[in-house]
Amino acid sequence: MDYVSLSLLIALSLSAITFLFFRSTAAVSRRKHRPPPGNVGLPFIGETLQLISAYKTENPEPFIDSRVARYGSVFTTHVFGERTVFCTDPETNRFILQNEGRLFESSYPGSIFNLVGRHSLLFMRGPLHRRMHSLTMSFANSTIIKDHLLVDIDRLVRLNLDSWTGRILLLEEAKKITFELTLKQLLSIDPCEWTENLRKIYMRVIEGFFCIPVPMFSATYRRALQARRKVAEALSLVVKERRSEWEMGMKKNDMLAALFDSGGGGGDGGFGFSDDEIVDFLVSLLVAGYDTTSTTMTLAVKFLTDTPMAVAHLKEEHDEIRAKKAASTALEWEDYKSMPFTQCVINETLRVSNIISGVFRRAVTDVDIKGYTIPRGSKVFTSLRAVHLDLGNFKDARVFDPWRWQKTSDTTNFMPFGGGPRRCPGYELARVALSVFLHHLVTRFSWEPAEEDKLVFFPTTRTQKRYPIIVRHRSKVAKQCKD
Ligand code: HEM
Repeated sequence: MDYVSLSLLIALSLSAITFLFFRSTAAVSRRKHRPPPGNVGLPFIGETLQLISAYKTENPEPFIDSRVARYGSVFTTHVFGERTVFCTDPETNRFILQNEGRLFESSYPGSIFNLVGRHSLLFMRGPLHRRMHSLTMSFANSTIIKDHLLVDIDRLVRLNLDSWTGRILLLEEAKKITFELTLKQLLSIDPCEWTENLRKIYMRVIEGFFCIPVPMFSATYRRALQARRKVAEALSLVVKERRSEWEMGMKKNDMLAALFDSGGGGGDGGFGFSDDEIVDFLVSLLVAGYDTTSTTMTLAVKFLTDTPMAVAHLKEEHDEIRAKKAASTALEWEDYKSMPFTQCVINETLRVSNIISGVFRRAVTDVDIKGYTIPRGSKVFTSLRAVHLDLGNFKDARVFDPWRWQKTSDTTNFMPFGGGPRRCPGYELARVALSVFLHHLVTRFSWEPAEEDKLVFFPTTRTQKRYPIIVRHRSKVAKQCKD
């Protein structure tokens, strides 16, 4: 090749490289100012109906799978009256959750605001949120559970299981247990007629979360608001009485006492919490721990029932613990710490069922993600479910396999309790309650489904018929086998 041709070739190659470089840079910069791709569906309703019909089935995954395949792991849709960016990969979700208060803030619908109250932790922001989140954590951390809460959890679970016989609706039983545990932890009140009445009213509040939140159109929502007022009145009386006891130096070891202590006393002092603020705070804790823990208890049992080898493994683990103790002796912290397979079952239940399938945030400024820009003010949904059920993150991700947790200690892609500053402050408490519940269940009972029941995911994750099962005392089963 002569000198002229060589120079020409080099010049042409350089211009081609330069052209391609500028074209791709321009494309990235153009994309950068574009919102994530997607389809916003029909006017007003967007893709809400597609989402609801998918989540009312046992297999809602196609809703997200098909959009991820088409648009990538961050896509735009329009659901529940608003354009929403769905995020389905672990890095983006972590980034969003960790930037709470800086680039994003939590965003709950107004209907929830009316039901939990404006002084709830869910709606707090900034320094007040940080302070109250850490107060809640400090009340539900492992030292407090070990020294103080475990004994009540054990006693109340046992007490409830004492009355089990024949056919029961497991979800209802689990809800009763969870409500009683929470009231004990918050207010030191043991189950009695008052707690049972409060629970009945409170269940009407919960119904309000899953209906059309417009009083004019929905009797359920009206009833829920009324019930919320009644619950607040009942709690206010307790708070008032306890405040005067606290002022006289009478201390109890519960969340209410921690709230009095942290504020230095009454709201009129300027830096303490008023009774109304405390009541809202207590209601939000009741709401946050109630459905989540009780549904996880129920689903753990459902998945176990469908996986007999896991039941056998679990029984072995708990029989061994019980063999070292008298039948009526309470579980201790060391017992809880020697339940490795139980923790695998809990992890796997949380991973597969995703009681909180994801959390909503709102962008407080334009945020660049994956080469696109999420415009300021946009609603964002970080889907925990999509991460947990992605075949790229977990092998055979859609199969319940508790043993997978024996092979790995890597929990990078596992976020059932969320992340960042709003990470669930009740995560350890929930784990302990679940472990104690499973212990007493498998050491005392055998069970079988009373009828077919199936999982659905809208409006929340649960089984359609509240999981009816038939329970038999293990001692009786053993005797029958001998005879
Ligand atoms: C299996 C049971 C539970 C699951 C799966 C769960 C899951 C979650 C998740 C994903 C969040 C994050 C919400 C967000 O980022 O916006 C959260 C927040 C929260 N959880 Fe839990 N939770 C459970 C049990 C509990 C319990 C027992 C309590 C009682 C103390 C509790 C209290 C809270 C509170 C107060 C928040 C709000 C935190 C904040 O906004 O700062 N949770 N939970």
